[in-house]
Amino acid sequence: MQAVQSRTETALDQRLPARNIVPDKLHDAMRYATLGGGKRVRPLLTHAAGCIFAAPAEALDAASCAVELIHAYSLVHDDLPCMDDDSLRRGKPTVHIEFDEATAMLAGDALQSLAFQVIAAPGLVNDGARQVAMIELLAQASGSRGMAGGQAFDLASVGKQLTLAELEFMHIHKTGALIRAAVLLGAHCGNADDAEFSRLSHYANRVGLMFQVVDDILDAEADTATLGKTAGKDEANNKPTYVSLLGLSEAKALAADMRGEAHAALAEFGQRAQRLHDLTDFIVARTF
Ligand code: IPE
Ligand code: IPE
Ligand code: MG
Ligand code: MG
Ligand code: MG
Repeated sequence: MQAVQSRTETALDQRLPARNIVPDKLHDAMRYATLGGGKRVRPLLTHAAGCIFAAPAEALDAASCAVELIHAYSLVHDDLPCMDDDSLRRGKPTVHIEFDEATAMLAGDALQSLAFQVIAAPGLVNDGARQVAMIELLAQASGSRGMAGGQAFDLASVGKQLTLAELEFMHIHKTGALIRAAVLLGAHCGNADDAEFSRLSHYANRVGLMFQVVDDILDAEADTATLGKTAGKDEANNKPTYVSLLGLSEAKALAADMRGEAHAALAEFGQRAQRLHDLTDFIVARTF
């Protein structure tokens, strides 16, 4: 994990414009939002999925950077006063606090554009049609039928009691879609075939939902210092979550079920999926 986290940091650092390039405040904010923090779960998933197919590390670096840049942008915007209104992220003041709101909006915008520039880089994979499919996958996962749509649903749900099906819909979109893209982009880098792809897609769907169920549990249970973001924020903001709907112990049982289903989806890959298998455990057992 440390090896992937460290090469991800380097790959992101190389692709983000330097702080002294104008507009320097915007570039500074983009780097502030992206570098030096975060678990890098999505890059870890991309690399672990790529490992099944012995994908080249350079392609995996680029694909995971693209996903992580989208993720960083989503966090900057998620923290804005018009959304979750958070002042702490990854143990530091959020971008709109450290800089200002307009800069936070623009940093998010520019991180999103950079993500697509990175994944469109010539020669990322040796098959042009496959690379176009990768770009389309990332676009779908980020847009109104993916993360942004899930965020819209999240904001429209404040103060409401959702059904379990509605809550699942929200989480699959706001968080699951990008997690799924992280896994499948890794498989693309290794030229996975259709059957392998659909097996991994099933895995990715489970782990994507599970990730947000655990995020809901941690928001309710962990403390701010450990999380690096404000604990108890969902309840304070009146957000429907797996914890508010099911209670802590049932939410935990559900996460454990999903872990089992995710593992089962990997079974046919055998030993080749060991890293992905272990990463699934990390996602459930994490403390932040
Ligand atoms: C937090 O994601 C936001 C969600 C989508 C739940 P992470 O828990 O992956 O945040 P970092 O990247 O480690 O800070
Ligand atoms: C965020 O969900 C999902 C995103 C698309 C960023 P949350 O609002 O629960 O994420 P945190 O808890 O602030 O990291
Ligand atoms: Mg949110
Ligand atoms: Mg939030
Ligand atoms: Mg949360």
